[in-house]
Amino acid sequence: MGYHMGFDVALVGIAGGLSLCWDTSISAEIQFSSTYVICSMMKSINTGREFRAYWIYGTPYREAKNEFWYWMEQSFAPTNHAWFCGGDFNEFLWGHEKSGGSEPSHSRPKFLHNFMSKMALMDMGYVGPCFTWRGRAHNGDLVQEWLDRGLVNYEWQTAWPNTTIYHETIVGSDHCPLIVNCEPRSRRSKRFLKFEANWA
Ligand SMILES: *[C@@H]1O[C@H](CO)[C@@H](O)[C@H](O)[C@H]1NC(C)=O
Repeated sequence: MGYHMGFDVALVGIAGGLSLCWDTSISAEIQFSSTYVICSMMKSINTGREFRAYWIYGTPYREAKNEFWYWMEQSFAPTNHAWFCGGDFNEFLWGHEKSGGSEPSHSRPKFLHNFMSKMALMDMGYVGPCFTWRGRAHNGDLVQEWLDRGLVNYEWQTAWPNTTIYHETIVGSDHCPLIVNCEPRSRRSKRFLKFEANWA
């Protein structure tokens, strides 16, 4: 895919597995990895700017969530480095981030809220359709949720204030890809399309 460097976390049976790739514009140091996370420090070769990049796969299993999120809160800490923490958290923040299936309970644990406030991370929002995952309820109904997102700290916002996350089209997966663009000016102008009435 054009990347020169990479790091993998192996599958467990036929499930899981994580893969992180980067090109020669980045130097990366893997600090820690497990079934659920790859923690890296990255540095842009051109600008010399360093940032912390944590890549998350949150457990999807309800009975494992308490332990997983407790571990996340104990293992990570806020930082003065620019920090991007993103991936498939398998959690949503608000009830309206789920559509179809059973109503989200108001009393459900706020794992992601708590993690974000302890780590001083904020959600970056998105451009595109809201939901990043779709599946089927037991009765066959379509269920959609916003499970994949990017969180950043204050230092990241200061360094790359125009960072934009795009929810791209779902192809060959139940999740959509997320594109994170730290300096999105050129992309936006390239995509701009003027519709001419006489085309109709
Ligand atoms: C962010 O976008 C604004 C508006 O397009 C632009 O003026 C500004 O230079 C950008 N900031 C950075 C740091 O790229």
